[in-house]
Amino acid sequence: MAVIPGDGVGPEVVSASLPVLRAAAARAGARLDPVEFDWGGERYLRTGRAMPADGAEILRGFPAVLFGAVGRPDVPDHELVWGLIIGVRQALDLAVNVRPVQSWAGVRTVLREPDGVDLVIVRENTEGEYVGVGGRAHAATAHELGIEVAVHSRTAILRAARYAFDLARSRRGRVSLVTKSNALRHGYTLWDAVVAEVAAAYPDVECEQVLVDAMAVRLVQQPRDLDVLLCSNLFGDILSDLAAVLAGGMGMAPSANLLPDGDAPALFEPVHGSAPDIAGRGVANPVACMLSGAMLLDHVGLPVAGRIVRDAVATALRDPARHTPDLGGSATTKELAAEILAVVESSTAP
Ligand SMILES: NC(=O)c1ccc[n+]([C@@H]2O[C@H](COP(=O)([O-])OP(=O)(O)OC[C@H]3O[C@@H](n4cnc5c(N)ncnc54)[C@H](O)[C@@H]3O)[C@@H](O)[C@H]2O)c1
Repeated sequence: MAVIPGDGVGPEVVSASLPVLRAAAARAGARLDPVEFDWGGERYLRTGRAMPADGAEILRGFPAVLFGAVGRPDVPDHELVWGLIIGVRQALDLAVNVRPVQSWAGVRTVLREPDGVDLVIVRENTEGEYVGVGGRAHAATAHELGIEVAVHSRTAILRAARYAFDLARSRRGRVSLVTKSNALRHGYTLWDAVVAEVAAAYPDVECEQVLVDAMAVRLVQQPRDLDVLLCSNLFGDILSDLAAVLAGGMGMAPSANLLPDGDAPALFEPVHGSAPDIAGRGVANPVACMLSGAMLLDHVGLPVAGRIVRDAVATALRDPARHTPDLGGSATTKELAAEILAVVESSTAP
């Protein structure tokens, strides 16, 4: 697999995760041979590019990619985000972003009763408001303007919708389509129409339409009723940060970027960014990255190893003494990772 640690806490959480993923793979009788790339902000400052021009093509040589995070305060955010992670998602046509959120025993959250949340956000990953169409005009005048065009295509909606319905079938059988078609009456009415067509082919899956503002409220008030949320690129991005808080915060939220039924490598990454406010202090929570790695192991045909990682994370998190500061504890990245590694190493492969 390819590994891109990136910037800020990215290298910290990736280096804490790799031994755990290697050990879990070994328990399942497999070997991981990570190949690391120095892509990110430092490379941008050195060479003017966050990754080589043929970066996406290089990644095609691997079955999967583990990515840390990108972003540093001394480089404009859009340069690095577009020059690396959005660029890779688009170049590899990674159509769907999958962001599971679940409660973990022992982890306190903002919810009065933290247990029982188990939902997945399925986010369209290549267009919407993130398609990159638009421009700036009348620079430095009183009439200066920025235009950002949202693009929603039947093809992209179909790919995300089919993935969401298939996923719901393997879970509790419910899809909540999140749009804003009362006010945004072109792109999001297309979402409503295309998803209704897909829903008709899945009579065993319940489907509801929820406006994004109402979904923000539902996520806070009744998150346990939610199963699969099908979202556009922008809404999925925003709601998944909100949903991450239901599981304990940004340090707990994994994700996968996939081209369902396609031949591109899948890319796995924590939902969080480079967290410059805590980078270098050794206190980042490595769980989001490890759980992304567990999704990677599932994807490359090692579901037993994936389960070993998730079980070890669950075991370690039951003890508040192992929690990093974002979870209210005082453990370091290395201490939590060492505990998870010890649990993996003492586990018996089923
Ligand atoms: N996919 C990506 O690489 C990605 C995603 C989001 C943001 N970014 C970039 O990251 C930089 C910082 O963005 P931001 O501050 O908006 O978001 P962020 O996710 O980096 O941080 C938000 C908050 O969550 C905390 N946090 C994040 N990860 C954590 C972890 N593992 N453990 C404990 N706490 C954690 C941070 O300390 C911060 O308080 C920006 O440059 C942004 O563009 C990159």
